[in-house]
Amino acid sequence: MSIQIIPLAGAVGAEIKGIDVSNIDKQEFEAVNKALIEFGVIYFREQSLTPSQQLKFASQWSEPHLHPYLSGLPDHPEIIEIIKEPDDPNNFGDHWHTDQIFTPAPAMATMLYAKEVPEIGGDTLFACMEHAYDALSDGMKKMVGQLFTFNQYDKQLPRSGKMSAKIPSVDKPTTPAIHPLVRQHPETDRPSLYLTDMETTLHFDNMTQEESRPLIKYLLRHATRPEFTCRLEWQIGTLGIWDNRKVLHMALNDYPGKRRVMHRITMKGSPPIAFNIPTNS
Ligand code: SIN
Repeated sequence: MSIQIIPLAGAVGAEIKGIDVSNIDKQEFEAVNKALIEFGVIYFREQSLTPSQQLKFASQWSEPHLHPYLSGLPDHPEIIEIIKEPDDPNNFGDHWHTDQIFTPAPAMATMLYAKEVPEIGGDTLFACMEHAYDALSDGMKKMVGQLFTFNQYDKQLPRSGKMSAKIPSVDKPTTPAIHPLVRQHPETDRPSLYLTDMETTLHFDNMTQEESRPLIKYLLRHATRPEFTCRLEWQIGTLGIWDNRKVLHMALNDYPGKRRVMHRITMKGSPPIAFNIPTNS
């Protein structure tokens, strides 16, 4: 069967058909990676994967980026099991973010495999930060191009009970990471906004929270405008991958009384490089 790539929305997201990711050859992988870079989020339906097969597929990109504050499955520490139980009021990732921005070399991509999903709800939203950057005025592009963000993991943020139980001592502060607010994609050179909501991107480097917050708030509101987004409805066996270097995502918490279980692998990335506006533009 030949590979089909079907865009999900105008700005971001595509379904890939005709691939069994547990048995993928070099040519197919190249097509998949090209689609990931172009569409920011790709997904495959009806995949049947063991944890080892999921890891093997992820390793085609890079080795896993181990989460500094959450532990993985006992037999596969590289895989974090994201579980929301029916009586759990909170879920994991219920805010706009890019994975592990609070580390010096954040995850380049994330692979999420749906094991158990509610019949309705539990979708994930994605927003394309390249489109968001492109839509800014020239004056704003100049200003944001000079800023760096101060990012820190918030261990106390409510997450699903199962996940927060794995978070170590809340007393020890986490180490912050400073990144350019506009980063250049290492494979396409395209600029994108690179920030997370105010629970993680606390302020701009060398600026106070009070000074930073209005602009962070504005940029997030701008960056998550509906026309820059898509919405992935999971089914059991859906495998999604997103490029953290150019998209934000948010897991919806709209399925009270239902269970959702996902297996997540984050892939190692490199330290973000600041984008410099070409002098002739
Ligand atoms: C995440 O934020 O990485 C999890 C997304 C999801 O569970 O949909």
